[in-house]
Amino acid sequence: MSSRIPLPYSPVVLEYFRNPKNVGRMENATVQSTAGSPACGDMIRLYLRIEDDLIVEATFESYGCAANIAAASILTEMIKGKTLKEAWEIKWNDISDKLGGLPPIKYHCSILAVGALKRAIRAYYDEVRKEMPNWLPKNLSTEEKQTMEEEELIERMYSRVPKSPGAEGGK
Ligand code: FES
Repeated sequence: MSSRIPLPYSPVVLEYFRNPKNVGRMENATVQSTAGSPACGDMIRLYLRIEDDLIVEATFESYGCAANIAAASILTEMIKGKTLKEAWEIKWNDISDKLGGLPPIKYHCSILAVGALKRAIRAYYDEVRKEMPNWLPKNLSTEEKQTMEEEELIERMYSRVPKSPGAEGGK
């Protein structure tokens, strides 16, 4: 018998987890972003293809849990066809609501997905357009801030883990 306790996921989360949409690396992406840390596995990478400030295609790779896969999946569906300004307005709780609610311990899965989106939008204007539009706030959004705090926390935690002998690559 399994010792795992099932989390109370909504039917929508389970559906998107079992049949995720827009999964995979995009070779011709205009911009990509990452949120989370590969150290603990909670990580999402988002790819956007943008034409004239419009998101024409969005895909993702997730190394997170069922809620993260579902959040990233529904996010890619929601932003396709939106302008970058419209996509910027999406908040982590919009994703959670669309998914029929997430258990509080899983809020961060939705925050990572939206954090990746906001990073991608910023990266697009910074690296591709080389100028920021007036509507894009200089200060980090809630999702970007929380994503950064989580990444720093994980880095601190992993820097304290003693290295096992041989982990340095010596034979
Ligand atoms: Fe960390 Fe879901 S991505 S618990």
